[in-house]
Amino acid sequence: MSNYHIKHLEEYYQVYRKSVNHPEAFWEEIAEEHFLWRKKWDKVLTWDFSKPEVQWFEGAKLNITENCIDRHLLTRGDKTALIFEPNNPSEGSQHITYKSLHERVCRFANVLKEKGINKGDRVCIYLPMIPELAVSVLACARIGAIHSVVFAGFSATALATRINDADCKMVITSDGSYRGAKTIDLKGIVDEALENCDCVTTVLVAKRIHTDINMKGGRDHWLQPLLDDAYHDFPPEIMDAEDPLFILYTSGSTGKPKGMVHTTAGYMVYTAYTFKNVFQYTEKDVFWCSADVGWITGHSYILYGPLANGATSVLFEGVPNYPDFSRFWEIVEKHKVSQFYTAPTAIRALAKEGVAYTQKHDLSSLKVLGTVGEPINEEAWHWYDDNIGKNQAPIVDTWFQTENGGIMITPIPYVTPTKPTYATLPFIGIQPCLMDEEGKEIVGNQVSGRLCVKFPWPSIARTIWGDHKRYKETYFTAFENKYFTGDGALRDEVGYYRITGRVDDVIIVSGHNLGTAPIEDAINEHPAVAESAVVGFPHDIKGNALYGYVILKDTGESRDQENVRKEINQIITEQIGPIAKLDKIQFTNGLPKTRSGKIMRRILRKIAHKDTNNLGDISTLLNPEVVQSIIKNAL
Ligand code: WTA
Repeated sequence: MSNYHIKHLEEYYQVYRKSVNHPEAFWEEIAEEHFLWRKKWDKVLTWDFSKPEVQWFEGAKLNITENCIDRHLLTRGDKTALIFEPNNPSEGSQHITYKSLHERVCRFANVLKEKGINKGDRVCIYLPMIPELAVSVLACARIGAIHSVVFAGFSATALATRINDADCKMVITSDGSYRGAKTIDLKGIVDEALENCDCVTTVLVAKRIHTDINMKGGRDHWLQPLLDDAYHDFPPEIMDAEDPLFILYTSGSTGKPKGMVHTTAGYMVYTAYTFKNVFQYTEKDVFWCSADVGWITGHSYILYGPLANGATSVLFEGVPNYPDFSRFWEIVEKHKVSQFYTAPTAIRALAKEGVAYTQKHDLSSLKVLGTVGEPINEEAWHWYDDNIGKNQAPIVDTWFQTENGGIMITPIPYVTPTKPTYATLPFIGIQPCLMDEEGKEIVGNQVSGRLCVKFPWPSIARTIWGDHKRYKETYFTAFENKYFTGDGALRDEVGYYRITGRVDDVIIVSGHNLGTAPIEDAINEHPAVAESAVVGFPHDIKGNALYGYVILKDTGESRDQENVRKEINQIITEQIGPIAKLDKIQFTNGLPKTRSGKIMRRILRKIAHKDTNNLGDISTLLNPEVVQSIIKNAL
């Protein structure tokens, strides 16, 4: 029991050393003492980053829902597992106990089986943040189907790409969704996507906004009557430790999205263990992570991590500014939230509205505040600390990635002294390092470089669905025998890490990872566009916003540039989603290119940052003259 809950800094260092010096013995002890196994493993770890191959707890048998639900029934059956807080507060919240979650997941599992879904089949879940989302994720895990949750803000084209890539047999969606004062026609988006997906034979539709929608005979079924008729129990499918649990797509800097594959046992152990420590979770706490389940943070810290600990987790359907900007704080007061976990972009948006909204509510239940998804700037950190935590609730700036499954670099609250903008120390079992551009490890402190990890942790993604070669190329070739994160970082004088941002062509806008290539592909679909390049530039609230440089085709006709701008953003919205819209579009006659024809984004980035005094060496450019004209016309 001793290593499960860390309470002092000395203990952190001691447990950390053990986890690094004897990783197998360390994780074996955690796994053995805190989870339910149908059969124990034959071997704790097999790994080889050159292949790459990683297996944890090989030979073990389990079901993650038995760990997240069934084993709590005796001691916590009547405890609330999920608090559903709807978009509109007047609708009232729902408390779903562990007992009731068990029944709902079992009924749903029976429906999935009845509709022909079996172990290993892929099921796409495209739902708003309603109880059916949590229940369908867990029902897939119950029967051993692989869930692929697609964030319900993605467009029909983006949804179709993801459905086809994973070859999903089924889509679970709703008639629509609420987003603040608006409603969104989710089923319409699914219908449009499915025009291009032959693999899907069944669509289950939850009722949420009660609008009239089109139901395609034979394919589409209302969910509720099926659940009502289904049996209330379902024995969990017994899974191998390394059976895939889910696929979750993340944007790459090039090409189509990458379907990161997470497997069962290692993911469970690591998300549960990080949840317990990073949030210092104790039995009576109410935990609230405001992310969407469509992202890794939601998978790991709304569902699996909290439920594996028998916790109470809030599932919030709405947005921070509806009915007004006090919504988050009203929820904290109403449910006496103990740990609140959100993104810097939300903090900045709320800080801008002033403190009147925060002062209206009693926030004294808060013990820990968390942030994740992008670097947090110092001003936002202090605003959060002063106005939400009242300088009493430590802030955990947690760094991790979809590929990592769980939190990797983070303070442990009440244990690690925090420092604004620093994610501080590696979590137990994590061995980060900084690398220089020649591939050498940078040792010592007060240094910066590319952030890598030297040794596998239990919840590292095992592959990219259907493309192991890309997995290897993206993460394991830049630096030999290391996992490369794509992030830059610095290490200060005491060994604290600060993540400085992406070093590749992924731009994080309001916490959403966006690859530049798919956006450029969308822009280039406009009939008037010859070529384009997209870079990020700093934005007060979104962190980064997108700046597009666009060359129009020379057709001799004059064009209404404002119209073209609008149309470009419309295409982006259709292909990817509104989150990828460009804030600025500059028309130009040329783009700076190297002699091998590559666009020099470094220069475009500097121009977008309004930092043109030192552009560095541009003599290697094929067309240096274009740079001055771009600067002159910069927006
Ligand atoms: C960035 C989100 C700074 C980082 C869980 C990473 C952060 C990418 C932090 C992964 C943080 C995440 N400080 N940057 N605390 N957390 N990032 O896959 O660039 O959506 O590579 O996973 O977000 O984003 P993803």
